[in-house]
Amino acid sequence: MSEPTAVFLAACRRQVVPYTPIWIMRQAGRYLPEYRQIRARVSFEALTRTPELAAEVTLQPLRRFPLDAAILFSDIMTPLAGMGVDLTFEPGPVIGQPIRTDAAIDALRPLVPHRDVPFVLETVRRVRAEAPRHVPLIGFAGGPFTLLCYLVSGRPSKEFETARAFLYASPGSAERLLDRLADAMAAYLGAQAQAGAQALMLFESWGGLLAPPEFERFALRGAMRTLAALRNHGVPLIYYLNQGTALLDRLANLPADVIGVDWRAPLGAVRRVLGAQQAVQGNLDPAALFAPADELARQAGRVLQEAGGAPGHIFNLGHGIWPQTDPDAVARLVDIVHERSSRGDNRL
Ligand code: CP3
Repeated sequence: MSEPTAVFLAACRRQVVPYTPIWIMRQAGRYLPEYRQIRARVSFEALTRTPELAAEVTLQPLRRFPLDAAILFSDIMTPLAGMGVDLTFEPGPVIGQPIRTDAAIDALRPLVPHRDVPFVLETVRRVRAEAPRHVPLIGFAGGPFTLLCYLVSGRPSKEFETARAFLYASPGSAERLLDRLADAMAAYLGAQAQAGAQALMLFESWGGLLAPPEFERFALRGAMRTLAALRNHGVPLIYYLNQGTALLDRLANLPADVIGVDWRAPLGAVRRVLGAQQAVQGNLDPAALFAPADELARQAGRVLQEAGGAPGHIFNLGHGIWPQTDPDAVARLVDIVHERSSRGDNRL
């Protein structure tokens, strides 16, 4: 007999599920004491490059909470070191020599995953061997535009002024860099799927900084190129766009099974713009985890209600969980979502 499909994967494919699956962006990380304990003795870079530890940290949240998916412990910037980028984490990514010229762009090596990031592929294999069978593993990469933001600006920024100015000052160079990144991330994600990742997610965290025409030219085109190359792997593809409410109508032709969104627009409105062809993922404000228990339950209920009863909703936060979050609030949230959605409170 074949294995029943995991609830998370079924929801990605817009199939009817017994309850709404939930996982949490940045579910492995500093809000967990057991993560901080490991980080007290190893750097973040060492953690991502040591499969035994990266797999352990990936599994930590699964031991505490009945989550419906695992996400590989790594960072969107990690594969860029394999392309020759001088990268450190302080704790956000810092680029020693920001990439701002054609010479610097052309000096980037194409990514050959088994040569340049073997530790990531080994982490995927280890997690697959150790995670519960009903909890699929999500592999991920950064969207080409989000990676460009860090490569050009050189460090985290609120508005990424340097990177956005670069788009307008040197659009041809920007496109050249984006094409290279799109191809590298296609190879990277394809290798993760081959190693055992059961879904693939592209994080376009800063796509919402752009006006629609620039979003299409500098973010969507690259994402399209990456995702189109992955269709033949047969795993669900998830595209996360932060602050993209005004851009959602541009995503209709994106070859993604699931669109992840932030909390700024209610999911009902998001689904009306996207149409019925794509599942949605999200979108509780990470700040809601600081509400008293009854208010958290009300807030989670509102997200379920907005998503409605139609198939194709994966519960998540609208962006990564904050390091100050109480793990007990996460436990409560996971229970609320499972309990309410299995009762069908959100059904139409
Ligand atoms: O649990 C998971 O979701 C998997 C791990 C994961 C990390 N980074 C670990 C990490 C994932 C999926 C990411 C993605 C990532 N990294 C994104 C896209 C998602 C998003 O949040 O928008 C972005 C933009 C980055 C870039 C990045 N890396 C920043 C801005 C920072 C500093 C801020 C922060 O959250 O610490 C990092 C460092 C980083 N990546 C840490 C972790 C656990 C902290 C490192 C530490 O332990 O000191």
